[in-house]
Amino acid sequence: MKILAFESSCDETAAAVVEDGRKILSDAIASQAEMHALYGGVVPEIASRKHVEVIAALTERALAEAGCTKDDIDAVAVTYAPGLIGAVLVGLSFAKSLAYAWGVPLIPVHHVRGHIAANYLAFPDLEPPFLALAISGGNTLIADVRDYTDIRVLGATRDDAAGECFDKAARVLGLPYPGGKPMDELAQQSRGGVYPLPHARVTGAELDMSFSGLKTAVVNLAHHAQQVGEPLDRAALARDFTEAVSAELVPRAIRALELTGYRKLAAAGGVAASTIIRAQLQAACDARGCRLYLPPLSLCGDNGAMIGAQGYYEFLAGRTAGMELNAYATRSLDAPAP
Ligand code: KG4
Repeated sequence: MKILAFESSCDETAAAVVEDGRKILSDAIASQAEMHALYGGVVPEIASRKHVEVIAALTERALAEAGCTKDDIDAVAVTYAPGLIGAVLVGLSFAKSLAYAWGVPLIPVHHVRGHIAANYLAFPDLEPPFLALAISGGNTLIADVRDYTDIRVLGATRDDAAGECFDKAARVLGLPYPGGKPMDELAQQSRGGVYPLPHARVTGAELDMSFSGLKTAVVNLAHHAQQVGEPLDRAALARDFTEAVSAELVPRAIRALELTGYRKLAAAGGVAASTIIRAQLQAACDARGCRLYLPPLSLCGDNGAMIGAQGYYEFLAGRTAGMELNAYATRSLDAPAP
């Protein structure tokens, strides 16, 4: 079954063709990051307009690269939530019109379910049940993937996502948007251990996380240094910050493995590209004899193929939608599509 899949929830327009949920036939992405870098972060209205400008041409590219015409496409999958509402609506409206015009099923896909499904593309042997650690720019959570479409959130951030925290911390260090990658490169130039940073604990919810205190601490540290004219060891701060984020994520993921009894952990989302977090997740899993699934960097960030992968399993579970399908800025991962 060939699915044409769309992703437009933030600043990447993506169209892909995926076969049987596991094989990428094409994965076309148009990133707007350079445009938003001018403003130090994503400007929602600009994101929506850029999606409108490129989505038709990107679809033609995805079909051509897959060696397909519209007649080869069995269904259309699309991110319907969560994300910047105007941006999600562009992909959703486009996908709806194609599904309607071509007379094929429309499959709504939750964006974070898509991130987790990127692992199915990278690891043909991976099957539920397993534990997922989804760490992206807008979402940070630990999920029990009981089955392809039966996914339960075990813990999540109470405030900022890990990626947002990376982006804000990077900004005060003078790094360009999106800050995760340059922060990663800077952090590797230092062993850290210079700046004490807070570690959050959420009372009564051992798998829940919090990143806003850490973000504020880095911002205050950098501003204070600037005000009193103290030199800032930027590489050490980048390292200490990344270690602090990792200290939020890794022990909780390991605790969730203990609680569920699972021996498989799949990482997902843009922050899963972090060299330091990848290494620490790997070391923690190795120490417990658990298998860690780390998608290649190309499948960590937003892409259309991951939506096609999850879309396939949503389709098998009978989860298609009609033309009344709406977009949602926020929606729980647990909830089936409307
Ligand atoms: O998954 P993603 O592309 O978009 C969302 O679904 O939100 O994640 C984007 C986030 C950004 O915050 C970006 O700074 C972060 O992933 N990121 C990284 C790295 N590469 C991207 N964070 C840490 N280290 C990286 N190497």
